Amino acid sequence: MANYLINQDYSTYTQEDHDIWKMLCDRQSKLTTDKIAKQYLEGFYQLEIDKARVVKIEEVSKVLKAISGWTLVSVSGLLPAKDFFQMIINKCYPVTVSLRKPHEIDFSEQPDIFHDICGHLPLLTNEKFAQFLTAYSRIAIKYVNDDRAVDYLARLYWFTYEMGIISENGENKPYGAAIVTSAEEIANIQDPGIPKHPFDIDQIICTEFTPYSIQKEYFVINSFDDLFSSLENLESKLMGQLMEKTKELYEGKC
Ligand SMILES: [Fe+2]
Repeated sequence: MANYLINQDYSTYTQEDHDIWKMLCDRQSKLTTDKIAKQYLEGFYQLEIDKARVVKIEEVSKVLKAISGWTLVSVSGLLPAKDFFQMIINKCYPVTVSLRKPHEIDFSEQPDIFHDICGHLPLLTNEKFAQFLTAYSRIAIKYVNDDRAVDYLARLYWFTYEMGIISENGENKPYGAAIVTSAEEIANIQDPGIPKHPFDIDQIICTEFTPYSIQKEYFVINSFDDLFSSLENLESKLMGQLMEKTKELYEGKC
C-alpha cells in the first residue's frame, strides 16, 4: 500500500483544530454569499459540510458518493502525480487529514483538510466540471514522466482547478479551490490592479505561476464549456511547446 494512504485518526484533532475549522467555515460562509461562483455554492450546500467540527472524511465520502459517485480517500499530503491522476480517473479523491495551523489561517502553502474538503469537493458534485477534471487527468497521466510536459500541464491545472475565475453576469467569481479557501486570494481578485485575462489556453501554458504566494494574475472562463474546449487541442499544443523548447535548447548549445 502506498505510504501516503493513511487513516484519519479523528482522536488526534485537538480542540484548537476544531476551533480553527469552525472559524474557517464561519468566515467562508460569510464570503460565499456573493463572492464565489454559483456552481461552487450549489455543491457546497449539497454536501452539508459540518461547520462546527473537523469533518470525518468517511462520512463526507458517503454523502459525495450519493450525489456524484465519487469517493474520498484520506492521505498524508501531496501524492505522486501519476497516482493522483489515476485516482481522479477512478472517481476517487484524496483528502489530506492534517489541518492548517493558526498562523496559516489566511493562506496555507500546503493543502490541508479544509482546502481539500471546502475547496475541491463542491465542484466534484458538478458533472461538467468533474468530467473536465477526469478528461484532463487522462491526458496528464500520459506525460507524467516528461518534466517539461508536466510543467505545461500544471499551468492549466493551476489556472483553472486551483485559481480559476468564472464570469457571472459580468462579475468575476472564483471557482478555483485555492482562491475559495483563502481570504487573501478572495480579496486579491477584487483588486482592479491585478490582471484577469480572458481564458486562453495558448497564453496559459506559457504562463509560469508561483504556488506559494498570492497570485499576480488570473484567467477568467465564461462557462465550464471553455474548460472542455481547452482540452480539444491540448496535446497538439503541448507537442508544439515541447518541440519549441527542444529547438531553443539545441540552438542554445550550438
Ligand atoms: Fe488543491
